[in-house]
Amino acid sequence: MLRLIGFGVFGLFGDKFFVIWRMEIAVVNGPNLGRLGKRLPEVYGNKSLQEVESELRALFPRVQWTFFQSNHEGQLIDFLESSGAECLIINGGALAHQSYALADALEAWEGAAVEIHISNVFKREVYRHQSLLAPHVIGQIYGLGVDGYLLAARWLIHRYEASV
Ligand code: DQA
Repeated sequence: MLRLIGFGVFGLFGDKFFVIWRMEIAVVNGPNLGRLGKRLPEVYGNKSLQEVESELRALFPRVQWTFFQSNHEGQLIDFLESSGAECLIINGGALAHQSYALADALEAWEGAAVEIHISNVFKREVYRHQSLLAPHVIGQIYGLGVDGYLLAARWLIHRYEASV
């Protein structure tokens, strides 16, 4: 079942109809993504994960953001099990290519999920061409740098707004 409820207030102000909503988006990053900005900048760019997170907060202030990064598969699974967010942006890092356990956790996730890869994984080593997470997300964004996170957020918000 899709989780698309969030927090919404609807009403009439004069002759204007208004909607106030507050949806939660969880942004989950896997191994080595905590080193964004320092790790292979020619591949992943110069922005740190904290900078990307601040940009998301600034661009989409009405969203309730939850950010989680871990180098440990089990912690990522625990997070997915316990999160009540409506939407998820996930960059599993290398676990996207190899972790059946993370894929299982994502399969059980009830919200709307988008998978992100900062680099164009199809231009890289063959082992990066497969994502075990792909069957369990609505769509993927790869190769657009850290803008992928912003684009995924924009799309999820648009989809959410259309549903409330
Ligand atoms: C990545 C691509 C993965 O292959 C790699 O292991 C990463 C980052 C990306 O964002 O481009 O850690 O997920």
